[in-house]
Amino acid sequence: MNRIHIVSNRLPFSINLKDDQIDLIPSVGGLATGMRSVYKEYNGKWIGWPGLPSDDIDDGLADRIEKKLFEEDCISVHLSKREIELYYDGFSNRTIWPLFHYFAQYIDYDPELWEAFVNVNKKFADKALETLEEGDTIWIHDYQLLLVPEMIKSKKPGVTIGFFLHIPFPSFEVLRILPWRKELIQGMLGADLIGFHTYDYQRHFFSSVRRLMGYEISFNQIQIEDRIIIVDAFPMGIDYDKFKKAASDIFQKPLQEKSKLHRELEKYFLLSPDRKLILSIDRLDYSKGIPNRLKAFAKFLKDYPEFVGKVTLIMLAVPSRGTVEHYINLKKEVEELVGNVNGQFGNINYTPVWYFYRSMPFESLIELYSSCDVALVTPVRDGMNLVAKEYVASRTNRTGVIILSEMAGVAKEMGEALIINPNNINEIADSIKQALTMPLDEQRERMIFLQDRIKRYDVFKWSSEFVKSLSRMENIQNSLHAKRINNTIMDKIQSDYQNAKMRALFLDYDGTLTGFKKNPSDAKPDEELHQLLYKLEEDPLNVITIISGRDRASLETWFKGHKINLIVEHGVWSKKLNREWKMLSNVTDAWKSSIKPILETFVDRTPGTFIEEKNYSLVWHFRKAEPEQADLRANELKDELTTMIANHNLEILEGNKVIEVKTGGINKGIAALQFIKNKDFDFILAVGDDWTDEYMFRELPDTAHTIKVGLKHTAAKYKVESVSIVRNILAELTQ
Ligand code: ADP
Ligand code: G6P
Repeated sequence: MNRIHIVSNRLPFSINLKDDQIDLIPSVGGLATGMRSVYKEYNGKWIGWPGLPSDDIDDGLADRIEKKLFEEDCISVHLSKREIELYYDGFSNRTIWPLFHYFAQYIDYDPELWEAFVNVNKKFADKALETLEEGDTIWIHDYQLLLVPEMIKSKKPGVTIGFFLHIPFPSFEVLRILPWRKELIQGMLGADLIGFHTYDYQRHFFSSVRRLMGYEISFNQIQIEDRIIIVDAFPMGIDYDKFKKAASDIFQKPLQEKSKLHRELEKYFLLSPDRKLILSIDRLDYSKGIPNRLKAFAKFLKDYPEFVGKVTLIMLAVPSRGTVEHYINLKKEVEELVGNVNGQFGNINYTPVWYFYRSMPFESLIELYSSCDVALVTPVRDGMNLVAKEYVASRTNRTGVIILSEMAGVAKEMGEALIINPNNINEIADSIKQALTMPLDEQRERMIFLQDRIKRYDVFKWSSEFVKSLSRMENIQNSLHAKRINNTIMDKIQSDYQNAKMRALFLDYDGTLTGFKKNPSDAKPDEELHQLLYKLEEDPLNVITIISGRDRASLETWFKGHKINLIVEHGVWSKKLNREWKMLSNVTDAWKSSIKPILETFVDRTPGTFIEEKNYSLVWHFRKAEPEQADLRANELKDELTTMIANHNLEILEGNKVIEVKTGGINKGIAALQFIKNKDFDFILAVGDDWTDEYMFRELPDTAHTIKVGLKHTAAKYKVESVSIVRNILAELTQ
């Protein structure tokens, strides 16, 4: 894949202007922190807003900003004060943010905000289009730019577009509240690949697509006219090693080099060794459940007075969206609550809550993560929550406990945390007690599991999985368009047919020569098909083989009297004309080392699944996983294996909540090859409709004309849409 450009509302660096000096400061928030670690790998640009209004910038300054950002491969989209007010504060943060976080009571339905949202999305799309060069890919991020995928796709249909939503996607019953819900979905569907943090968000998205647009969805694919859109869950990770390394470095520093914050923390512990610290870090956002956290801490001190004087809550609230009314109110509420707790439980030597309303440098963040015994992460809704993962990565001594809201996407990956309902104040208070008194052995046991998992699926793995899927999409869309049979291709097939001295025709049955019936035994060949085959059989140069997954009995009966060969049960049995049935076989396990890593990726991405290894097979078990997600993944796995394993002579079997890949030596491809072995066929035609036919498409020589029925991704050279077109093609050959 060539360059990938990132498009997001906020750039990874925001501009800080001081006495005409331009400083770049790292932007906060999960999107910026996560992507900052990876975007340079993609050799593209990051297009976004540098965080200040364009009204205050004259041309000279704008040029200097541009230059400074360009050094970081960033390109800015400038927004005026008015645009910031209506699009950023407005539709993004007063309409979509509360809607998607289930704060329906906060939603602003002002059409003027919507209009600005459309216009500013267009600005971002235009800037991306300007930056794009032939072969480039685009990865758009988050809720502020939901319309951009479609805006780009409609102008440049050939560009591969990925979209990732960093916040929750709400259930349809919530989304439908919004007058512009359909436009938002339509905007997202401009992407070729749409990613969410969790399967639940993906499921909600599908139900909205089904309800609002009526598109057909099969497994994780949405079929729109001549496009396929893949939707999947990619739980975002963090730059694990960066946090781990920073945490170890800090501990090795001599005292005089430590930050003021760190010296304060050490003094605190020196005062009394049995003192404990609880950490709370978020942007100051109503979705983060900060007031409940403070109430729960107060309840804890009230219920367990033995901890008064010994436990301090360090609360870091990063200023965010400070011009939006609900954020202003929240700030007041939090400050009041902090005051109440400190007033009620504090004394001259003891401040129960240390409250910071500011952004902190990375080092201080690490100092806090690594010094605090408990992390209290209690959002009422959160797409993912990277703070929880960062805390885990920074615990170099493998102790520490996380209290985690079940409403955060991250809870799906952190079963070892103490999981709470963020509205249950009593439960949180009790969990604080449990966390503070948890034996070190138990802390370590839980932390080791958490660290292993979060280290494995880090931000690099997350982004590479997304990008891998994106490049697969590029192939899928290209092959969808490129492979349809047209007149030129048909002429070529026809002339090869005419010039041939001996022809092999491999024809799958169900879905290829005849349509599917509800009851398989009703799919007998009709008169038209009989006549078509008779006509083909008349030509002595034609060797016709029906190659099918069906059993021997029905096909033998149905084609009695025809001059054709049969290969059935996907190649297990074959019967040449006027001969007896014969069985094929062949066994090896050399393929395992190349297939196992594929299964492992699926284990990583699908919590609750595992691999079982047998002598001649690998089995992926998904009984314990979330059922709907596992079914989707099972289909994706089958699809991926189908394109991967044709060279290895393998078979995929679908059992009860398992997918088994086994040594085959038996499939339609092998069977077809055996059929043509030692024969001088100078024309080969193979037609089939499903994944079992892919073996045939791959195994047959390059000169073969292979045709897939249906628009799905295929190894065949050509595609046709329907059984009737297959019949037309065969009929044309006989003329
Ligand atoms: P959100 O994306 O909603 O803000 P996350 O928890 O997913 O929530 O991400 C927050 C990110 O912002 C984390 O990567 C965290 O390290 C960073 N961050 C949080 N607080 C600060 C702070 N005070 N200074 C610098 N970065 C911060
Ligand atoms: C969340 C959103 C990001 C956003 C960040 C900070 O993480 O998903 O898109 O950038 O919050 O919010 P802000 O409004 O300051 O960009």
